[in-house]
Amino acid sequence: MKIFREPSKLQKWCRSRKANGCKIALVPTMGYLHEGHLSLIAEAKRRKADEIVVSVFVNPVQFGPNEDYAKYPRDERADLAKCRAAGATAVFFPTPENMYLDRHSVYVVEEDLSKGLCGARRPGHFRGVCTVVAKLFNLVQPDFAVFGQKDYQQAQVIKRMERDLNFGIDIVVAPIVREPSGLARSSRNTYLSPAEREAALVLSRSLMELKASAADSPRSAKQALSKVAAAIEKAGLKVDYVECVDAKTLENAKSVGPGTCVLVAAYDGKTRLIDNVLV
Ligand code: PAF
Repeated sequence: MKIFREPSKLQKWCRSRKANGCKIALVPTMGYLHEGHLSLIAEAKRRKADEIVVSVFVNPVQFGPNEDYAKYPRDERADLAKCRAAGATAVFFPTPENMYLDRHSVYVVEEDLSKGLCGARRPGHFRGVCTVVAKLFNLVQPDFAVFGQKDYQQAQVIKRMERDLNFGIDIVVAPIVREPSGLARSSRNTYLSPAEREAALVLSRSLMELKASAADSPRSAKQALSKVAAAIEKAGLKVDYVECVDAKTLENAKSVGPGTCVLVAAYDGKTRLIDNVLV
């Protein structure tokens, strides 16, 4: 497995692999890898990529001033071992300094799908995500890139960026990987105390219940969402948002039914968790 730290070296290697006819997959991550990330690498393998490039970079530009950039968990040695075991063929560990050169001044802004949900609560977040993902696309020039459905809005924003900027890269969205308890896997779960972890189960539980009831007959979004929000607050979390949107446009839907996605964000103690379900 190759290890790159310099963007230009990664780019050179990817170009030569491509010139040799290799199919290249990119799996962008912020590291502290868990089963969710490993499922993205497995998806790249399933799609028969010859080279699977995993990027591990806690991207400062997508964190707000009061967010957890400094304390975001990092473990380079463990990430390397997991990438190797999962079948990655290259890992890219850049530094903020070599990704964002002195006086970096060009950013990518998606102006439609990133307006609501996390985009509204985390100003500048998707500008940071789009910018770093666009840079990774340019460095690796993959045939396809794999993202997780857990960050549903992010996946839609990236698909739109790919389409509107003609990257010519297939965007694959892999299903959410959950712990046996139902909790969506996330590097941020490591912040949770045992009691907070227990309380967090309300997120997946209330989403699954809503999905099951909406599958029988579409439900009024207003009613259904306030029920979910009440359950979350009762479990001791603080709701950031609970919304039901059209799965493609991310516009608010009037009823929870086929073709919609219900998304939640809530604070469990100091930790902001997100989850979603496609109905
Ligand atoms: O989903 C993530 O881990 C990040 O937002 C991504 C896509 C790697 C960009 O930094």
